[in-house]
Amino acid sequence: MGESVLTLAHSTLEDIAGEVGTPVYVYDADAIRASYERLTRAFGTVPHKVFYSVKSNSNLAILHLMKELGAGADIVSGGELARTQAAGIPGSDVVFSGVGKTRPELQAAIDAKLCLINVESRGEAEAIGELAADFGSVVNCGIRVNPDVTTDTHPYTQTGEQGMKFGVPTDEVVPLARWIVEHPNLSLRGVGMHIGSQITNADNFRDGAEKLSVLVESVLEAGATEVAWIGVGGGLGIRYTDERPLPAEEFTAAVSILHQRFGFPLALEPGRFLVGNAGCVLTRCLYLKRSGNREFAIVDAGMNDLLRPSLYGAVHGIVTVTPVPDEKSSASRHQVVDVVGPICESGDFLGRQVQLSGCEPGALLAVLSAGAYGFTMSSNYNSRPRPVEVLVEGGCWRIVRERESVQDLLRGESIN
Ligand code: LLP
Repeated sequence: MGESVLTLAHSTLEDIAGEVGTPVYVYDADAIRASYERLTRAFGTVPHKVFYSVKSNSNLAILHLMKELGAGADIVSGGELARTQAAGIPGSDVVFSGVGKTRPELQAAIDAKLCLINVESRGEAEAIGELAADFGSVVNCGIRVNPDVTTDTHPYTQTGEQGMKFGVPTDEVVPLARWIVEHPNLSLRGVGMHIGSQITNADNFRDGAEKLSVLVESVLEAGATEVAWIGVGGGLGIRYTDERPLPAEEFTAAVSILHQRFGFPLALEPGRFLVGNAGCVLTRCLYLKRSGNREFAIVDAGMNDLLRPSLYGAVHGIVTVTPVPDEKSSASRHQVVDVVGPICESGDFLGRQVQLSGCEPGALLAVLSAGAYGFTMSSNYNSRPRPVEVLVEGGCWRIVRERESVQDLLRGESIN
């Protein structure tokens, strides 16, 4: 089960679902604060800055909370840049990652004077160089390296191994560094990595840090005198069901050697660790159904609302928040069910073979640990409006994104 979200009282969850309907994403601001503090405390005196990975949960209220906590942002698109600006995060606290930044996106990043634009290929460096020359300014760049490490995580969330599209291959790092250093409009201010997501094995980070260390050394030897940051990425895993995530201290110990060796502050890009366990999706059971030897609880949230189970086979805890009142036996009745949504795909499930009690039509269920890569990966598939988002803070709750309407779905379309 998710660790923090259940600190929210069931009565609060019932109130929310009763007032705003289901499905609804609920986030717990106190839980986010607690994980932020846990991470920064683990670094002790090692200088570091959190650049929160916006893609994990990009709601403006969450971004604003991160800003209040002192975080900057890690972005991967012009849309995410606009979100950070709307949340009041200054460009100097933003790093721009991603393999396919377009020229308009790069231009917007240059205009916003970001802390770093992390370059992932020579072609991209050339594009930034040209735009910077036209602009007549010096643009701060970082090199995101592909350190070639194997990570024990889902293949779709591995990023730091040779043969993947991410990062600059090790043999190209020094020539690229030299090229940037010699460019009159570019300043090489950072070298970093991001090796994958939902990593629960400290060896993966140790391995990455060792390999990055070798590369940083050769970049410095190649004449990069303006380097001011070492990026250690995100990737810290959390507990969904029975994972054993590494304590934050093990992560910090693994990457802190980079500070010890070179003296630069560390740039972190955590997403899931900060928000994953601080959110859930509330959904109501519509019907029970049997097919062959399987029992199904059909609920009003589907793969369009929470894609992770369908896409990665991810297992989220699911619990009954409110059993249907009444029939003496219902609350205590235990069932093993597949929790499935209304989408017309057999891959539309939120959980398989889930043990639930009191799951009858009308019961309120919570899908746990859905604060990261939940709403941000939702879609309008099957023309379903995306859910409402709610933030609970200091005992009160408020809507931080309205439920989409059918009018929203049709916006911008025309017959002729
Ligand atoms: N930095 C960069 C450059 C990234 O690409 C990512 C995530 C992060 C930081 C944050 O990683 P985190 O700390 O959240 O692990 N949709 C997948 C996860 C994809 C992660 C993509 N990159 C999922 O639902 O598991």
